[in-house]
Amino acid sequence: MTAKNRYKSLELETPGVYELEGLEVGVTSNCNYKCDYCCAYNRDDGQCISGQEVIRIIRELPRLKRVRLSGGEVTLKYQDCLEIVKYCGLHGIDTQLNTNASLLTEERIHALRDAGLSNIHISFNYTDPDAYAAYYRVHPRMYERLEHNIRLCTEAGLETVLETLLFEGTQANMQAISDKVYELGVRIHEIQNSIVMPHSHWSKIVSKESLIHSVNELIKHKKEDTTLYFTCMDRFAEQLGLREQPGVYFSNCVDGTKQLHLHGNGDILICELCLPVVVGNIYQGTSLKDIYTKQPQALTDYLEKQPCPAYDALFAGE
Ligand SMILES: C[S@@+](CC[C@H](N)C(=O)[O-])C[C@H]1O[C@@H](n2cnc3c(N)ncnc32)[C@H](O)[C@@H]1O
Ligand code: SF4
Ligand code: SF4
Repeated sequence: MTAKNRYKSLELETPGVYELEGLEVGVTSNCNYKCDYCCAYNRDDGQCISGQEVIRIIRELPRLKRVRLSGGEVTLKYQDCLEIVKYCGLHGIDTQLNTNASLLTEERIHALRDAGLSNIHISFNYTDPDAYAAYYRVHPRMYERLEHNIRLCTEAGLETVLETLLFEGTQANMQAISDKVYELGVRIHEIQNSIVMPHSHWSKIVSKESLIHSVNELIKHKKEDTTLYFTCMDRFAEQLGLREQPGVYFSNCVDGTKQLHLHGNGDILICELCLPVVVGNIYQGTSLKDIYTKQPQALTDYLEKQPCPAYDALFAGE
């Protein structure tokens, strides 16, 4: 199964072994958007890490299989991203770039492809310029740019993943979004369960009933040449009667077990989105290379309990 699925290959492997195989790097936490739902850790703290510094760190991690560039909007630091992608491309490390696509251009897309970017992951929650502009408080032309850039990515032959956040704002429109993803030429659609956590006051997550309905409908209408990845649902999919089938995956969560997040100031977090607990800092004596052999206490605590805010939110009080 894994060999065919380059995207999410870490998440589709059997869980249980703790090893740093994936590193998410918040090249910058700044962003040109201000999404209500965003729970990225310290989004506006101005902390950045340069491309050369990231490469220095990666060089010391021989077992690393994937680098995910995500913050903030990391394309604000496009040149740094490109340097990292080039290095990883030459050293057999997969790369993923998470972006809102607003700062992409044809030239950048081609340069990232030529540097060996494994896949580009673009947020996609609205299907028309007015709804997009109203939610994100931007000009409707930004939606046209989003569609244009998505098409450029697929035409350039880049593996393109569109991610839809399943929350109150999208739950009634999931099928239209899915149809639009297809129409844009994208064949990998990731549906991210909305998560709420202590550092964010946002709480417009889907209800259990709505989640079951949306997921089942998407699976029912899935086109044969499309792959669906449902994220942050693996802890309870079976309990809700949701099952994998060909082209439908409930990806295993790897946060804290195989993947950690490196923040711009050197902080190491378990997960930037759902558990922004700082377990160490690379400039204050924590070695990423040995992090699972010389485990910081906060990481050990996490591995013992493996809390999941997505589970807790849906099953609160049960
Ligand atoms: C923090 S953003 C960074 C990349 C880029 N700025 C973007 O928006 O795509 C990465 C992903 O986090 C997801 N995300 C943000 N807030 C979330 C939340 N409350 N629950 C689940 N996912 C969330 C977004 O959907 C996005 O795809
Ligand atoms: S979700 Fe992405 S685009 Fe939106 S505010 Fe957060 S980092 Fe920025
Ligand atoms: S622990 Fe966090 S990242 Fe993992 S499945 Fe739960 S909410 Fe998602």
